[in-house]
Amino acid sequence: MSILEVEAVVAGYGAAEEIVKGASMRVGDDEIVTIIGPNGAGKSTFLKVVAGLVAAKAGAIRLGGEDVTGRDAQGRARAGISFVPQERNVFGSLTVAENLEISGFLDPAGTARRVEALYERYPMLAAKRRALARTLSGGQRQILAMAMGLMTDPKLMLLDEPTAGLSPKAADELFDAVVALNRGGLPILMVEQHAVEALAISTRGYVLVAGRNSAEGAGPALAADPEIRRLFLGG
Ligand SMILES: Nc1ncnc2c1ncn2[C@@H]1O[C@H](COP(=O)(O)OP(=O)(O)O)[C@@H](O)[C@H]1O
Ligand SMILES: [Mg+2]
Repeated sequence: MSILEVEAVVAGYGAAEEIVKGASMRVGDDEIVTIIGPNGAGKSTFLKVVAGLVAAKAGAIRLGGEDVTGRDAQGRARAGISFVPQERNVFGSLTVAENLEISGFLDPAGTARRVEALYERYPMLAAKRRALARTLSGGQRQILAMAMGLMTDPKLMLLDEPTAGLSPKAADELFDAVVALNRGGLPILMVEQHAVEALAISTRGYVLVAGRNSAEGAGPALAADPEIRRLFLGG
């Protein structure tokens, strides 16, 4: 079964030329799927279309077989889609605890229980619960952003460049956290610039170029493809 099916989606910003020009992707129930592609290809826009933050002008988005194309961002969140944006994904002037608490908006009664469960899963967050988010390291901030995304008990997690700006060691740890989440049963669709490392932990990958599907394949096979390496991975 596929948790997510995106069919020929077209989207953009206002009257300007469309950015996503008929892209299609699928995420299986147990998969980590990575989208790679050049800067400006529309990868972030594509994730925002799936999250309901940018409207699809054509095409369809199905979650667990159900058409969610007509739902707004909150409706998609309720349906089970959680989106962790690349930037400004935590509130720097709030504490770790406050960031988690405000992310429980879909179910206020369940917030305390979920925060405790996340403290157990990520002891670093428990240790830092009273720290302002802006005092966290880049890697810690990304873990907090993912934990905030988990507060809605998602069926699918969208991650936009979760390792952007992280040291190699912090990026490795973040990828380990992504794998652990997936092993726990959460399907993941992520955009990554660290293509080799991301594809190595991915079931499958897609290459998006100029808003369209350009190539796809099993993660490690895609990372090893000579043409893909030449175009996107620096040889
Ligand atoms: N909010 C916005 N308003 C107008 N244009 C945007 C906006 N966000 C992104 N774009 C444009 O859409 C194109 C694709 O951007 P993006 O989806 O961020 O690409 P990628 O994530 O692949 O680098 C870029 O040309 C960018 O300038
Ligand atoms: Mg982007």
